[in-house]
Amino acid sequence: MNSPRSAPGQASGRRKLITIEGLRKSFGAATVYDGLDLTLPQGQFISIFGPNGCGKSTLINMISGLLPMDTGQVLYDGQTIRETRISYVFQNYREALFPWLRAIDNIHYPLKVMKVGKRQRDERVEKLLAEFDIRIDLNAYPYQLSGGQQQTVSILRALVTNPEILFLDEPFSALDYEMTLFMREQIQKIYMKTGTTTLLVSHDLEEAIQLSDKVILLTRRPTQVAEIVDIDLPWPRTTALTTDPAFVDLKRHCLEVFWREVSRAPQQAPSKRRETQ
Ligand SMILES: Nc1ncnc2c1ncn2[C@@H]1O[C@H](COP(=O)(O)OP(=O)(O)O)[C@@H](O)[C@H]1O
Ligand SMILES: [Mg+2]
Repeated sequence: MNSPRSAPGQASGRRKLITIEGLRKSFGAATVYDGLDLTLPQGQFISIFGPNGCGKSTLINMISGLLPMDTGQVLYDGQTIRETRISYVFQNYREALFPWLRAIDNIHYPLKVMKVGKRQRDERVEKLLAEFDIRIDLNAYPYQLSGGQQQTVSILRALVTNPEILFLDEPFSALDYEMTLFMREQIQKIYMKTGTTTLLVSHDLEEAIQLSDKVILLTRRPTQVAEIVDIDLPWPRTTALTTDPAFVDLKRHCLEVFWREVSRAPQQAPSKRRETQ
């Protein structure tokens, strides 16, 4: 199926890549990654889906530089993480915002840390808020906001620095279903507007397919890529699309790979594989 828009990252010219090479990570005797190679295009929305405990959070924590690898390297178009502007939205919004700061001051915070002057900060935040239809009292403190509103503030705070890469670790998992659908819409709007490279860890296959250009399916530990599935569905991806036959086919395929992987004995894990697009 052809997309009615060109995906934000498909602008002309050479595509930038995130390259993960020879990644190894163990926690004590538990080997999570034993030589993972993976190349991902920048400017795309990429979801990571796999069995519980297979190392999804560990993977994005290492890619984002929050967690050291045992061995291996991650390069952002040849540059290290220190030279790349990233933002991270954590799963637990309750602990993510500073409770003593009003919502608006939470959003300003990363710019303050970057020593951006007050006038520039105001301009940047105003521009960001104007881009999205935010109906939240930003003078409220986090405890006065609903979970979805708090997570929206976390996402705005992540976006205010204009990150080159946005990491999201199950950002909607603590929200109710209605709020989750609303947040999927918000995230999608942001992606369609900015084209920011986004890496989303999700335990919800429907969500992963709805939001992504690519879904990375992981195996059990020691974890490898089982398959990278291209999601060639038109944008925007409405909730109604999730019942479209093309969507259902993709979901079925992903589930087949997933079930094959969870029922596979550990020693039968596929041999190391490299994926490039
Ligand atoms: N800091 C840690 N110390 C010890 N074990 C850990 C730590 N972080 C993760 N693990 C283990 O590594 C495996 C992968 O964890 P994680 O990346 O959180 O999985 P996922 O996000 O896919 O559910 C799990 O078995 C988990 O228990
Ligand atoms: Mg996790």
